[in-house]
Amino acid sequence: MSDIAKLQIGENTYEFPLVKGTENEVAIDIKTLRGATNGVITIDPGYKNTGSCESAITFLDGEKGILRYRGYAIEELAEKADFLEVAYALIFGELPTKEQLDKFHEDIMKQSVVDDDVKKILDAFPKNAHPMGVLSSLTSALTAFNPSSVNVDSEEEMYNAIVKIMGKFPVLVAWTMRKKQGLPLNYGSKKLGYVENVLKMMFEQPNEEYTQNPVLVNALDKLLILHADHEQNCSTSTVRIVGSSHAGLFASLSAGISALWGPLHGGANQAVLEMLEAIKEDGGDTKKYMGKAKDKEDPFRLMGFGHRVYKNFDPRAKIIKVAADEVLAELGVKDPILNVAKGLEQEALNDDYFVKRKLYPNVDFYSGIIYRAMGIPVEMFTVMFALGRLPGWIAQWREMRLRKEPIGRPRQVYIGENVRPFVNINKR
Ligand code: SDX
Repeated sequence: MSDIAKLQIGENTYEFPLVKGTENEVAIDIKTLRGATNGVITIDPGYKNTGSCESAITFLDGEKGILRYRGYAIEELAEKADFLEVAYALIFGELPTKEQLDKFHEDIMKQSVVDDDVKKILDAFPKNAHPMGVLSSLTSALTAFNPSSVNVDSEEEMYNAIVKIMGKFPVLVAWTMRKKQGLPLNYGSKKLGYVENVLKMMFEQPNEEYTQNPVLVNALDKLLILHADHEQNCSTSTVRIVGSSHAGLFASLSAGISALWGPLHGGANQAVLEMLEAIKEDGGDTKKYMGKAKDKEDPFRLMGFGHRVYKNFDPRAKIIKVAADEVLAELGVKDPILNVAKGLEQEALNDDYFVKRKLYPNVDFYSGIIYRAMGIPVEMFTVMFALGRLPGWIAQWREMRLRKEPIGRPRQVYIGENVRPFVNINKR
């Protein structure tokens, strides 16, 4: 293939270089387009055909259902790694040695205390506030308590901001859940592993000794790994574009949390459980809901199905589906919702509407069933997604800053009124 693209506009032909990635993806570099063509730009709602950056963090092939973090297959990482070493690899580029991982963990746990005044902000929220709104606010508020983490330019300053948020974010997650449950806001222990510490902070009861359940530890570790990064999805693109104004890491993450909240994105895991519950309450009538999903007059969508990039099975959904059976069996939980989910999946996989549109279960379709079996409230599901995605957001923010990417500022095509004179109100 030639290494240039030719564009014909009217009588003129323009040439643009082709960029080729390490997995043979090809892009047209249009950096010079507007200048060369005297103002012509491209337009691509939802950026379905537009790359925002070059990145070395995550590779996914939607047609083949492939997902790799820093070149490592998601199936291997989910099986053989733990969440903190995956976080290290995503952020710094290589799987850590034991010494590197121990130091990373130690530096994070030194930062796993949050200014007590943050509790005053938490107290100001109504009890029925959605946890994603609380978490986004508290994450942004961390900037006020850690001002040195805003104007970070050196790798050392970035590292300090990164271990701060890796240490404090799980505290905010636990406090957000416990506040809604009327439980005291507690801390874990520096002596615990990262995921063990999260579980202790979330589930410790004030009147009994907390004992770790290895089934929960393994299940959460795997779920956090599977959610850790996913190239330029909606919330990651949000973190990158907010970070491109040098707004600081915590503010950029807060914006990413808000983007993830949407039911078309990370909010889908909560919406899936609510949908499955509704189907169960409705006598398990999956055909009715399949009909609603296909009816263009009905806003209902089959939540947990379809994906912007995957036009094959989401590899994460495959792993989570197997884990759901294992975890529920190990916990001795029988959840009829799992069967409703499997029935719906089978129907959709054999339905022409879904097959033609290549709509398969995505990461959100089965994850909520495991979260619920673990005792996590449904409105906390997307918060757990955010906890998993934290290292991916950090890695993408760090890459954008180290590569000194320009501030994100898309163009537009104006379709409003042409110039017209102002009319005084008494003449309108
Ligand atoms: C995540 O991008 C990422 O990587 C995200 C994520 C990550 O890790 O960061 O993977 C996490 O967000 C997973 C997706 C979770 N969202 C849901 O499960 C919500 C339900 N899914 C859809 O809303 C939808 O599939 C999207 C938003 C995920 C993708 O939408 P697209 O790519 O914009 O596709 P589209 O809306 O243009 O749909 C194409 C066709 C349309 O029908 P036609 O106009 O061709 O007739 O498929 C239909 C859609 O109506 N369709 C669905 C459907 N999803 C798409 N119809 C019914 N149910 C669905 N779920």
